[in-house]
Amino acid sequence: MHLTRRAFAASTAALAASPAMAKTTPKPIVIAHRGASGERPEHTLMGYRLAIDQGADFIEPDLVVTKDGHLVVRHENEIAGTTDVATRPEFAARRATKLIDGEEVEGWFVEDFTLAELKTLGARERLPELRPGSAAFDGREAVPTFQEVIDLAKAQSRRAGRTIGVYPEMKHPTFLASVGLPIEARLARMLRINDLDAADAAVFVQCFEPGPLATFKTLSKARRVQLVGAGSPAMVSAEGLKSIAAYADGLGPDWSMVLPTVDGALGPPSALVNDAHAAGLLVHPWTVRAENRFLPPKLRRGTSPAEHGDAEAVFRALYAAGVDGVFSDFPGLAVAARG
Ligand code: G3P
Ligand code: CA
Repeated sequence: MHLTRRAFAASTAALAASPAMAKTTPKPIVIAHRGASGERPEHTLMGYRLAIDQGADFIEPDLVVTKDGHLVVRHENEIAGTTDVATRPEFAARRATKLIDGEEVEGWFVEDFTLAELKTLGARERLPELRPGSAAFDGREAVPTFQEVIDLAKAQSRRAGRTIGVYPEMKHPTFLASVGLPIEARLARMLRINDLDAADAAVFVQCFEPGPLATFKTLSKARRVQLVGAGSPAMVSAEGLKSIAAYADGLGPDWSMVLPTVDGALGPPSALVNDAHAAGLLVHPWTVRAENRFLPPKLRRGTSPAEHGDAEAVFRALYAAGVDGVFSDFPGLAVAARG
């Protein structure tokens, strides 16, 4: 059965929320960051399935482009850290050093592989020491295409009887354009052919680079979210937020920009959620992870960086601060804390 855009469009107030609606929306959305990536290798279909089973509202694929122009799901265009490419003698000669976004990177790059070649690789856990349970699933699945993730979201929406949205991120757009593989129009086309080119579709398109996001606005009606790192205070000034609101529907800040750490504990929320809402922007902070390594010192439990600390405190504080959604490697915990 073909699922129409209307059927796939947000079925809850939270999924379709405008900033004004967000104030009356009972539930912030839970975005499964690269899947249930605390428990399965990131960006795998099994990781997305687990996230949906745990109650995630959206699944997040980071996107890059193959040599033959297909959108595939990886966090970086360099894939030694998340696939078995380095163990494959037939691809040894593809090892290269490139300048990516101002940084010299050595390894194997998606844009040097056709989709058929990429599909022969096995996906792997990025942090095996921290996440050995996830690493047990290494090699079980291939790198998914964006189309496969959309198909999964549609099929799981039917199965679960609720709308599962997709939250794609354009990775390295300036670099990809420089090698003749621009990502913006490819993504817009994929949304169009899947009946997702609409402001009320269960889709958010995200990017750290403002230019490509503004370009994307001219190509698609799907909603857009400007990602912001903790080192970019100018972007979240009143002027910066006003300028983002000209081309984006939401802001995706590092969660520490909403909840600063004070004396090793969670401090009071910053003004960012209120300021962004005042500018007409939704707020979806990233990325809450349960392991001690990623938590403020006073929320850690036990001594190992891999042990889980009190991530629930982070979720609760973010929800109390009024966020409209949250990215997490542990979507099940985010859903549980939402209550
Ligand atoms: O997209 C939100 C968050 O994922 C941004 O960081 O590096 O995990 O893609 P990253
Ligand atoms: Ca991302």
